[in-house]
Amino acid sequence: MRKRIGFVLLLAGFLSTAQAQQVFTINAPQSPVQLRVENARDGALHYALQYKGQSIITPSRLGFSLAKPQAELAAFTIERADSSLHDDTWSPVWGEQSFIRNHYRELRLSLRARNTNIQVQMVFRVFNDGIGFRYEFPAQAGFKHFILKEENTQFALATDNQSFWIPGDYDTNEYLYNTSKLSEIDALSAAAKEKDIAVQSLIGPTAVQTPLMMKTPGGIYVNIHEAALLNYATMNLVLDKATRTFSSHLVPDAVGNKGYLETPAKTPWRTIIVSDKATDILASKTILNLNEPARIDETDWIKPQKFIGVWWEMHIGKGTWFLEGGKHAANKANVKKYLDFAAKHGFDGVLVEGWNVGWEDWFGNWKEDVFDFVTPYPDYDMAELTRYARQKGVRLIMHHETSGSVTNYERHLDEAFQYMVKNDINTVKTGYVGKIIPRGEHHDGQWMNRHYVHVAEKAAKYKLMVEAHEPSHPTGLHRTFPNWLANEAARGNEFNNAPALGITPEHQTILPFTRLMGGPMDFTPGLFHFKLNEFEASRTTVVRTTLAKQLALYVTMYSPLQMAGDLPEHYEKYPDAFQFIKDVAVDWSDSWYLAAEPGDFITVARKAKGKEAWFVGGITDENARNATVKFDFLPAGKTFVATIYMDGPAADWDKNPTDYEIVQAKVDRNTVRTIKMAAGGGFAIKIQAAEE
Ligand code: NOJ
Ligand code: CA
Repeated sequence: MRKRIGFVLLLAGFLSTAQAQQVFTINAPQSPVQLRVENARDGALHYALQYKGQSIITPSRLGFSLAKPQAELAAFTIERADSSLHDDTWSPVWGEQSFIRNHYRELRLSLRARNTNIQVQMVFRVFNDGIGFRYEFPAQAGFKHFILKEENTQFALATDNQSFWIPGDYDTNEYLYNTSKLSEIDALSAAAKEKDIAVQSLIGPTAVQTPLMMKTPGGIYVNIHEAALLNYATMNLVLDKATRTFSSHLVPDAVGNKGYLETPAKTPWRTIIVSDKATDILASKTILNLNEPARIDETDWIKPQKFIGVWWEMHIGKGTWFLEGGKHAANKANVKKYLDFAAKHGFDGVLVEGWNVGWEDWFGNWKEDVFDFVTPYPDYDMAELTRYARQKGVRLIMHHETSGSVTNYERHLDEAFQYMVKNDINTVKTGYVGKIIPRGEHHDGQWMNRHYVHVAEKAAKYKLMVEAHEPSHPTGLHRTFPNWLANEAARGNEFNNAPALGITPEHQTILPFTRLMGGPMDFTPGLFHFKLNEFEASRTTVVRTTLAKQLALYVTMYSPLQMAGDLPEHYEKYPDAFQFIKDVAVDWSDSWYLAAEPGDFITVARKAKGKEAWFVGGITDENARNATVKFDFLPAGKTFVATIYMDGPAADWDKNPTDYEIVQAKVDRNTVRTIKMAAGGGFAIKIQAAEE
């Protein structure tokens, strides 16, 4: 129900500039977050955000530059203001918790841009832990098709915050995170160190990507991102250091435009999540709440899953994706070995990469016709492997590497999906390595953002689940398309094998505050072998965690799709530790973020959906430290058995990553236990009923 509210307005001298004509102050019930929207006499529209009375975002401009019709939407007249309160609870198909409360106050301003008369609506939602706002362009006479030159949304930061950032880029989000004050952001120097990213399209020295995580000098955590990125280009942020103001910078298309819209149209939500507790940022459901409900009615075919893959062995040089040379990994016998291993250890799926013709010439030539997605190599017998997988009760997972040739992929998409259905395959890993075709388009532009959604929608028609590698940053669209299980879209575990920078031990303590704010990541945890020169002596790459930390990642790095990334023979060396990967759940009825500090540590507990089993994961950066776990998330009146997988006394990511211990202890909701984490280490706990 909407009601028209009176303006809280016109307090001459209320603003230091005395320019404000109309001021709206919006709080959600009991929320420490306060939003203020001001429309100045000259028509400029600003918003500002306070948390518990402290300024976080100082007055920041809103507006648009249009390329067609050529117009600046920078001065507005408010024609109407409506406010409403919303409070409901919904259940995701899968997720970190079974029920999600969506509670906010909305302010909708109906605006008319001065000079052009174009109607715009600004919608603001204030939650307990932050805000979302977006622009809507209603259907209106004389304004239908329009082309964006730029969105002019600003985020002016009140303080010189500690920031966790990656360089702004049109094509990749696979950077290592940098930590610096806002005033010290140097995106081009950071990017220059990155030698292992296939395509970089940098924006400038002060451009960064979202989710951008920050901590104010006063200890308030602030996260800026976007939600519901549909039919629109991805937003980067460019900082003006003099005014500490970020401006939105949308990814352009091949001719330099930033979006083609037709009324009625909506932008994605711009989100600012804020709390004085780091754990609240991780637990926030605001981005999901700002996304639309599921567009798929019948969802019983959508299943969280654990899988292994004919995959890492190619990355570390044991095998090849291509056929020639005698090391082709996706051969019938090898795939059967993986299927046997998956069946024996209870995995749902086996990913097979390099199964199809094209890998001999797949990358680097901006070539259009690469793969057809239906022609296996001669040593890969699809019919026989389908039969074998079915007999073993395991699903093959399809791999569609597009090599960035997306026109080619779209031409083959129906046939490729029909081929999957015919072969009993219900999950596909897509990939977009390389420069995009249509040539000139970028991974993060409007055209590609529409493509990723198109794939998820088409997949749903065939009842297929999707995860994408190298897409744009996730924005909570998995609420709307729950068959889109996960994405890479960041530096995942596979970058341990990248020679230039690899992955630092703190990286996994930053990702949940950044990349994972938008949705689940296919991080591919579970590496048990740390020096990656086993098959190629010249390789110098190493995995910079302890083994126990690799286990913890199944809990700290939320995803309904979790891979056990390493080779079967590496798991066979440590069967007791491998047991945790076999046991850990991939769907949860509840989650409790127990402790966290971006860049330093994270501890989270989760309850398996539909089971009396809890799992805890704790990780640290390069510093050894103790984690104190309070088990008060357990139900009262019962004692449980905890199996704790922890770093051994000599464990250290660099010197002794495989030193681990497994201990059992009785726990109940009053138990408090301190667990030592080695440098680059962590721990994982399984908790179950004592009588089991
Ligand atoms: C990059 C992906 O991230 C990786 O997982 C995959 O194996 C290769 N591309 C080949 O498609
Ligand atoms: Ca640190």
